[in-house]
Amino acid sequence: MFRPRVLIVKDPSSVAVAGADVVEELITERPDAVLALPTGRTPIDLYRELVRRTRLGRIDWSRVRAFNLDEWVGVPADSEASYASFMNEHLYAHVNMPATHRFIPNGLAPDLDGECRQYEDAIESVGGIELAILGIGRNGHIGFNEPGTPFEVRTHVATVSADTRAANAYSFPGGDPPSSAITVGIATIMLARRIVLLATGDEKALILRRALEGAVDVSVPASVLQRHSNVTIIADERAGSLLPRPVSER
Ligand code: GLP
Repeated sequence: MFRPRVLIVKDPSSVAVAGADVVEELITERPDAVLALPTGRTPIDLYRELVRRTRLGRIDWSRVRAFNLDEWVGVPADSEASYASFMNEHLYAHVNMPATHRFIPNGLAPDLDGECRQYEDAIESVGGIELAILGIGRNGHIGFNEPGTPFEVRTHVATVSADTRAANAYSFPGGDPPSSAITVGIATIMLARRIVLLATGDEKALILRRALEGAVDVSVPASVLQRHSNVTIIADERAGSLLPRPVSER
């Protein structure tokens, strides 16, 4: 078992800055890096910071490739509620990553299982993911890998739990998200060479402690990260409030 590095910083903007440092350093070192990117409220500040640095000429996205972790099933890409729209709004409309380098599962594909296989193939064909950036759901989900999902699964169609649908209701005009989504699987995430998980706010404190200090078990999907050798958790003081003191202070 490995111990994820834990970086606890003051507030959500400091989380964004620390996360952006990782991304900027990676792209500077490896201009053709392959990323996996999350949605949700947590990474919005990170994307804003990355856009700011891009405008300053510090990040060139022209050779970067990025795979989204997930997309709702049945939501058209051009609908405001899709993760495709989310990514355009917060990142892609503002950076020079070619459209052909941006990958998001197609939640309207007639053959969803085939779409999942193609997504895996696309990830493999570019040599796998170098850096996966994750958020964490209040029940410990990563991507849309909900509690109970086997650690061995690759990209698949997942059933979204009632809790997670409620947590995401804000981004749907009718407040009613779909009950399924395509998600990169836990096994796919674990193959990333480096993983950074971002967490902010009181509502993530308990689950972060369970994920990092509790047993590795499918009931807390993020606990699988204890089995990866290169994980950094970047949490603000609130999300990190129930963790043991950061490694640097021990
Ligand atoms: C959604 C996404 C996850 C994300 C989670 C947490 O369920 N599919 O990838 O990590 O929300 O979102 P938030 O950052 O808004 O708490």
